[in-house]
Amino acid sequence: MKASPAPRDSLEPIEIASRDEIAALQLERLRWSLAHAYENVPHYRRSFDEAGVHPDDCRRLEDLAKFPFTTKQDLRNGYPFGMFAVPREQILRLHASSGTTGQATVVGYTKRDLDIWSAMVARSMRAAGVRPGDVVHVAYGYGLFTGGLGAHYGAEALGCTVVPMSGGQTERQVQLIRDLGAAAIMVTPSYMLAIGDEFERQGLDPRATALKVGIHGAEPWTEPIRRQIEERFGIDAVDIYGLSEITGPGVAQECVESKDGLHVWEDYFYPEIIDPETGATLPDGETGELVFTTLAKEGLPMIRYRTRDLTSLLPGTARSMRRMTRITGRSDDMLIVRGVNLYPSQVEELVVGDARLSPHYVLELGRERSLDTLTAVVEVTPALAGDADARAAAERELKAHIKSFLGVTAAVRVVDPGTVERSIGKAKRVIDLRGK
Ligand code: DLL
Repeated sequence: MKASPAPRDSLEPIEIASRDEIAALQLERLRWSLAHAYENVPHYRRSFDEAGVHPDDCRRLEDLAKFPFTTKQDLRNGYPFGMFAVPREQILRLHASSGTTGQATVVGYTKRDLDIWSAMVARSMRAAGVRPGDVVHVAYGYGLFTGGLGAHYGAEALGCTVVPMSGGQTERQVQLIRDLGAAAIMVTPSYMLAIGDEFERQGLDPRATALKVGIHGAEPWTEPIRRQIEERFGIDAVDIYGLSEITGPGVAQECVESKDGLHVWEDYFYPEIIDPETGATLPDGETGELVFTTLAKEGLPMIRYRTRDLTSLLPGTARSMRRMTRITGRSDDMLIVRGVNLYPSQVEELVVGDARLSPHYVLELGRERSLDTLTAVVEVTPALAGDADARAAAERELKAHIKSFLGVTAAVRVVDPGTVERSIGKAKRVIDLRGK
C-alpha cells in the first residue's frame, strides 16, 4: 500500500492560500517577531542598534534584508539562556545540540512554541501521506536531539498511534515494525538502510510489511538513496527538513504526490537565500545559504539565522508555499581536496549508482607529503563479498568516476559488508585523519 495525497479539502486553508494572503500574514507576523526580539533579547537590541535599524523600519517583507544576521556563535555566546525572549519559567522544554563542533547550544520552547512545532510536524506528516489512525514508528533518537520528540508529538497531534522506538536496537526495530503494523516510519535515511539490512539478515522481506511511507531527514541524502529505500521497502520515501535553532523537524516537508522538493512552512518560518560570501539576498531559483526568520516563536525568536545549509527556493506546486531543493550539503561540510571543492553527497551519488556497492560508505581525508588525500571506503554488497574480480572492477570504476565527474584523484577501498560503522542517527560521512 502506498501513501496517498491529502485531499485538498483536508488541508489547512493557508497551505493553498494565494501568495498575497501568505505575504500579508508573513508581514504581520514578521513585524511582531522583530519587535518581540528587540524588546526582550539584549543581543537583538544591541545588534539592531549597531546596524541602525529598528523593528518599525520593516514595512515590507523585503525590508528584512536590512536587519543583521544571527549565527550559531551568537547562540554560543548567550549559552545557555541568554537569547531567550521570555523568563526561563515560561520555557517548558529545552533541547541541545551535541556540541561536537564546538560548545553546545541550548534551545527553548514555550507552551505555544511546542504546540506550533507539533502542528507543523503533523502538517508535514499529512503531506507525506500519513493519516490519523496510522501506526507511526519513530526511530529518530529521543533525548536532547529534536528528532525523536519532535516526530512523536507531531504524530500524536495528527491522531496517530505512536511507537516511540528511538534509534538503536536494530533487531527490535524490525520486530516492532512488523508486529505493530507501522504504516509510517520516521528515521534518518542512513539508519533506514541499516534497518533494511537487518530485515535481510533475518531472512525477512522488507517489502512484506504494512509500511507505506518513510519520512527521512536530519542529514543530507540523494535521489539514488531515495530510489533504493523505495525499492527495498516498497514504500514512498519523502524528505523532511528542520533544525533545532528554528524549531526541529517540520520546518519544510516534501509532499508525497509531487516529490519535487520541500515546501517550507512559510507561515511560521520565513526563508531567504543569501550569497554566503557577501551576505546579499539572492533571487528565487539561485543557490546559496538558507537563512530563516521565525515568525511566531516566543521562547527563542531567530532573526535571519544563518543555517549554513545550501539550497535554492522555487515556487510552490502541491502547496502554495515555496519549495526548497534537497539539501546536498552544508557550507561547513564542503571538502577541499587539492584545490577541488566537493561534498560527500556527490561521492554518494556515484557509489549508489554502482549495483556492486552497498550505500554504506565513509570518506577518509588524509595527508601525504603535505598534500591532501581522499579515500572512499565503500562496502561491497553481500552477494559479491567473495568475488575478488567484481570488487577490483568496482574499485577501479569508482576511482575513474570520481576523477571524471568530480575532478579529484581519490583512492577507493572496497571493503567487506558490515565494515563501515553504522550510525543509528545522523551518519558520519567524513573521517579527517589529517594532522593526527
Ligand atoms: O536534524 C532536526 C530534524 C530531525 C530534521 C529529524 C529532520 C528530521 P539539528 O540536529 O539541529 O536538527 O540539525 C539540523 O541537519 O541544518 C541540516 O544541515 C541537517 N538536516 C536536517 N534535515 C535535513 C534534510 C535536526 N532533510 C541540520 N536534508 C540542518 C539535509 C538536513 N540535511
